[in-house]
Amino acid sequence: IQKIAVLTSGGDSPGMNAAIRAVVRSCAFHKIKCIGVFRGFEGLIEGDFKTLGPRTVKNMINRGGTFLKSARSKAFKTKEGREKAYQQLQKEQIDAMVVIGGDGSFTGASIFIEEFNFPIVGLPGTIDNDIYGTDVTIGYDTALNTVVEAIDKIRDTANSHNRLFLVEVMGRNAGSIALNAGIGAGAEEILIPEENLGRDRLIDSLKRSKKAGKTSSIIVVSEGDQIGKNIFKLADYIEENLNEYEVRVTVLGHIQRGGAPSCYDRVLASRLGVSAVDSLLDGKSNIMIGISHNQITTVPFSEAIKNSNELDLELVRVADIVST
Ligand code: F6P
Repeated sequence: IQKIAVLTSGGDSPGMNAAIRAVVRSCAFHKIKCIGVFRGFEGLIEGDFKTLGPRTVKNMINRGGTFLKSARSKAFKTKEGREKAYQQLQKEQIDAMVVIGGDGSFTGASIFIEEFNFPIVGLPGTIDNDIYGTDVTIGYDTALNTVVEAIDKIRDTANSHNRLFLVEVMGRNAGSIALNAGIGAGAEEILIPEENLGRDRLIDSLKRSKKAGKTSSIIVVSEGDQIGKNIFKLADYIEENLNEYEVRVTVLGHIQRGGAPSCYDRVLASRLGVSAVDSLLDGKSNIMIGISHNQITTVPFSEAIKNSNELDLELVRVADIVST
């Protein structure tokens, strides 16, 4: 292997720049060329490439987002698009690639490997922490800290006005952010897609908290939760049926995707980036590199895509107990 390409794909996440930096510097360490591909698979199809040397990634470790930019490519879903991408790789004499993204990106990558027998390894980069085969994904820790910081501020005003706040957090179909940030921020209730609490049980539980002496309340709602899907309607329902608090809604939105990566995410991204290059040099392909019990692990793309993370029941229990 003489030349490795790196790209970021799907929703960006804090720490992607640190991962690119690690791939670039690892290539330099092994004396091989590194090519940055701009705008994910979209840029791959168009040949939007730039040679990256160790100094081109200076001052990147602390920057949120991805300087290579990201996209969700429709064209790469077509055979024609993938054919063009392969031609661009051939033209540039690229031997292997590192794809940093989520399961959509890995699905595209694994189809590409099957069609062209082109070596690719993946790194899990998403704030959602919804990828099987790794305990955590790059960006998740930073997103959790952003959410907790925001909810701490909401708590101040909720408390001053004796209000109930519904705070919507990201996570697509996964409740990881909601559950962990909910515990970290001391939420009364956490609504996640993996578990359907139901509106009536929610009202009953809020009545119990009120009786137990609580004067304000924070409910963390994952964007994929069934009863939280329309958060403003849920707010009206709670106001009418609980009749105890004024209810306000805060949708945290894309602030969860930005910001300087936490130290944890920087170290994780650096470890995974170095491992990605090591794996390609070892002749590996069609795998995602993750972390489990603080050890680097690998999982075939097919498994990372097919499986989903199970709900951590211990965390659900903790959330219930500490919100009593
Ligand atoms: O996958 C990351 C994520 O931020 C999800 O949490 C969210 O559902 C989605 O991306 C938002 O996507 P978009 O970037 O298209 O707004």
